[in-house]
This record gives sequence, structure tokens and C-alpha cells, in this order.
Amino acid sequence: MPSVYLDHNATTRPHPDVVREMLPLFGEAFGNPSSLHGFGQQARRALELARQRVAALIGAEEVEIVFTSGGTEANNAALLGVARSSAGRGRHLITSAVEHQSVLACSEHLERLGFRVTRLAVDSAGWLDPARVASAITEETRLVSVMLANNDVGTLQSVAEIAKTAHERGVLVHSDGVQALGKVPIDVRELGVDLLSLSAHKIYGPQGIGALVVSSGVGLEPLLFGGHQERGRRPGTENVAAAAGFGRACVLARQRMEARTRHLLGLRERLERGIFETIPDCRLNGHPTRRLPNTLNVTFLGLDAELALMSLAELGVAVSTGSACSAASHQASHVLVAMGRSREEARGSLRFSLGEENTEAEIDYAVGALRRVVESLRPR
Ligand SMILES: Cc1ncc(COP(=O)(O)O)c(C=O)c1O
Repeated sequence: MPSVYLDHNATTRPHPDVVREMLPLFGEAFGNPSSLHGFGQQARRALELARQRVAALIGAEEVEIVFTSGGTEANNAALLGVARSSAGRGRHLITSAVEHQSVLACSEHLERLGFRVTRLAVDSAGWLDPARVASAITEETRLVSVMLANNDVGTLQSVAEIAKTAHERGVLVHSDGVQALGKVPIDVRELGVDLLSLSAHKIYGPQGIGALVVSSGVGLEPLLFGGHQERGRRPGTENVAAAAGFGRACVLARQRMEARTRHLLGLRERLERGIFETIPDCRLNGHPTRRLPNTLNVTFLGLDAELALMSLAELGVAVSTGSACSAASHQASHVLVAMGRSREEARGSLRFSLGEENTEAEIDYAVGALRRVVESLRPR
């Protein structure tokens, strides 16, 4: 039976070059990068090379890269770090209704600590109008946090415009760039954000490593207290092997972004055409054009998408009903609900997220499997 993986927004298979980059760091280059002897310095060189490579992909300075355990930690470090450095200043955070759980749950925590949080509504394509941000900013606003690209539907937000507006009012800007990294060009200077969250495992790197990009001059209270690692911004012995894998994944992303995008757009168009031409009563979720090249989210009216997911898995096709976090809790995607879909529509939606190793034959197989599954599960 074929095995077709169409869940790359959940995680990606580490590229063989990434694994090759990491292996020596579990062997001869095992040192602690804070140690002054040769073993330590070898690990230090690997860590700093990784930092250079991550910075190069997004046009940042190396000193701005703070390695973290992933996107979740980066998002928490950004929100909590700004909040804790806000003593005596405004206690208002603006974000959107379609952020990743790590931003939404963290903002709920801040509310419990007495912060006011505004969660801005999006339109039916999942897009946040920057004008809404402008009119939500008050004297009390300390931070705006809006993601670059949505994990469930792929819609890209107008973060550069949002950042410009916020800065004119003296407000800091954070963006969750986890899904956008490596899939669309990112230049932190052009974006103009103060803080940017990244993760390696969505771009063929290892799980458990990411970064918070902290623009020079932005003061942030750390989440953790301990040693001087990452200039005191994230203490704890660095995960050197994972950082090295992340660095290699960033090199690959830089080299291959154009080719990957062409490949992914071709496959996605084939998938979309296959679905809409052979399965009735479907509806596209997400922005028709301003969207990640690998993401397709479709509502199949009347379908129980969770049952469909299980049936597809039995046929060797791995898809998702939305972010891994909400999938585990059997909730309708908060993103689709925020876009105005009914709970029933949201529960009938599947997310297909493609990757560079997918082929046309796999897409054709997936469409065939999907057609059979939808036909057999839809109420007659
Ligand atoms: C948009 C977005 N932000 C943050 C995260 C969390 O990243 P990590 O899995 O590295 O903690 C994810 C992962 O699903 C994501 O899709």
C-alpha cells in the first residue's frame, strides 16, 4: 500500500543532509559550547555556524538569533518577555483570533495576570485587515502579535503594514513566522517586526529547536533564569546538534525556495483540481491567492472529517483536520470558526499540506482515495 504524507504543516521528515549535519555532534563533537577547551570550542563553532545560517535565511544579524526549544517557546518568550518588561507601561496586547494555540493560550494567561487582550476578527479568507489593528491601538498597547502565515488554512497576513502602523504609535510587534519560514521569502528588515518566532521541524529540520529573533535594542525579560547562554536571553546548555540541523535546513531552504515553490504550487493545483472536479459540494478555506504554496484546506459538506482522516490513514494517506493541537482535543478548528464557518462546516474540513518529496502520482492516489472515502462516509 502506498504511504502518502500530506501533513507537512504538522511536521516534516528531516532532510538527509540535516541528519548528516547533526550526527558528528552526537559523536566526536559532543562538547559543551560554553567550555573553553577544544571539545567545547568545536561545539561552539557548530552552534555559531548554525546561528549564521538561520540569520542568513531571514536577513537578520547573528546576535539577534536566540535559539529556543521551538516555535511554542519562542512565542511564549516573546509575549511573556514583553509583558514582564512592561512594568509601569501599558498592559494591553493586540493579537488575532486565528493565531496558533501557543499565542492564544499565552495571551489567556496574560489576561489572568491582569493584561487586557484584544483578539481581532479576520475576514472569511482568514485575513486580518491592518486597519483593524490601527483602530485597536490605544495609549495602553504594548505589543501587537500577528502571525505571518496560518497553519490551518495558509492565509498570509499583511505583517509589514501592521508593523508600520504599530511603530508609528510606538508599539512593539511580534510575528509567529513558524509556518512561513522557508515557504515564502522573509526579510526581517523589510517586515519591520521587533520579534519573530521560528521553528526547524516545519522546514525539514529536527523537532525541538527553533529561534526567537530579537531585534537589536528590544529589551526582553527572559523566560528562564540560569547561566549566560544565548547572552543570558535563554539560559541552559544549548541543543547544539539540533541547532546544527536547523542551520542546515535553513541553507537548504535558501537554495531551494524557488524550486520548492514551483513544485508545491504545481502539486497543490493538481490536488485542488482533482478534488473540485471529482467530489461535489466542496468549498475552499483560506485566501485564494495570498496563501502558503503548500497548503490546501477544504470543507466537504456533510462529512465527518475525523472519520475521513481515519479512513484515509487506512488507505495510506496522512492528512489532518487542522493543527495537531486541536486535532488531539477533537475540537473544531478555531481558525475556521473565526473565518465564519459553522461548527458543522469546520468539522467537515480537511487540511492537506504538501512537501517537497511529494509526487504527482501520490497526489493522484490521494485524490482517488479521498473520493472513495467521502462517497462512503457522506450521509445519503
Ligand atoms: C503557526 C505555528 N506557530 C507555532 C507552532 C509551534 O511550533 P513548535 O512545534 O516548534 O513548538 C506551530 C506548530 O505547529 C505553528 O504551526
